[in-house]
Amino acid sequence: MSKPVRKAVIPAAGFGTRFLPFSKSVPKEMLPILDRPVIEFIVAEAVAAGMTDILIITSRHKKVMEDHFDRFPELEVVLANKGKTEELDQIVDLAQQANVHFIRQGEALGLGHAIGMASDHVGDEPFAVLLGDDIMHERAGVLTGMVDAYEEHGTSVVALMEVPRADIGSYGCAATEDIGESRVVRVTDLIEKPDPAVAPSNLAIMGRYLFTPSIFAEIEETAPGVGGEIQITDAMLSLLAHEQMLGFTFAEGRFDTGKKADYLRAVVELTLERSDIGPEFAAILSDVCRSRGLV
Ligand code: UTP
Repeated sequence: MSKPVRKAVIPAAGFGTRFLPFSKSVPKEMLPILDRPVIEFIVAEAVAAGMTDILIITSRHKKVMEDHFDRFPELEVVLANKGKTEELDQIVDLAQQANVHFIRQGEALGLGHAIGMASDHVGDEPFAVLLGDDIMHERAGVLTGMVDAYEEHGTSVVALMEVPRADIGSYGCAATEDIGESRVVRVTDLIEKPDPAVAPSNLAIMGRYLFTPSIFAEIEETAPGVGGEIQITDAMLSLLAHEQMLGFTFAEGRFDTGKKADYLRAVVELTLERSDIGPEFAAILSDVCRSRGLV
């Protein structure tokens, strides 16, 4: 029987150069979706998929993330004295929803390197990786579907989404074959940022991975690849030589908040869905659109 997936690793140590100047002093993972930072959505997704131990890979410029998941006794007393119980519950829950740990990646040497930093913490267990700037909507059921696939097959699983062929060169790309399941396929080859003309498919690796612990030995052996960074796709390709790997396919519900336009879409869509402020925001949005002749 497969070991349960209890641990999640969230790499969040990159420079976030696409979000400068904001990301010079504030981590892009702390960008607000109204009143909750992006990283909170990622942690909540891992908790909802059954993970109780979360390791965030951070860097010395990103201490504010550690504060966000810590207790804040002085603020708790102020909120209690003012009778602000809802706000109090929110900040206490945040610190208690899971065991959130932090480890620093001294140099941003790539995603593969960041994941490799989790080796001692994870040990000999399967674990999930959730990129710190990629929000997956609950309706897409990505991480929960990946956990189900892992529990059934006992192999590593990677999230795959179809993208226009012209865009595949921006992603890790997977060649796959059918195994008679609707959303789960077998991965037969992987290539990082392929030339679209020769890419084996238009299935892109998207922000969620579930690995057996064997990935750590492959990361150790992986030399810097595209962009001089230690690429997780290269380590996965080596893993594929020894172990089977599955892909979990999904079509929508991903927001890459590290990209400005996708971040704005996340703010709009996720705020519209809120019962407290969604209707008011919808009215503002349609007013703005109408007054600018956009609808
Ligand atoms: P990205 O490539 O999207 O992040 O990596 P980046 O490098 O910070 O962003 P740009 O391209 O400069 O704008 C995906 C995730 O992996 C983390 C990032 O923090 C992000 O959450 N990452 C990336 C690390 O933790 N360490 C690295 O060395 C690289």
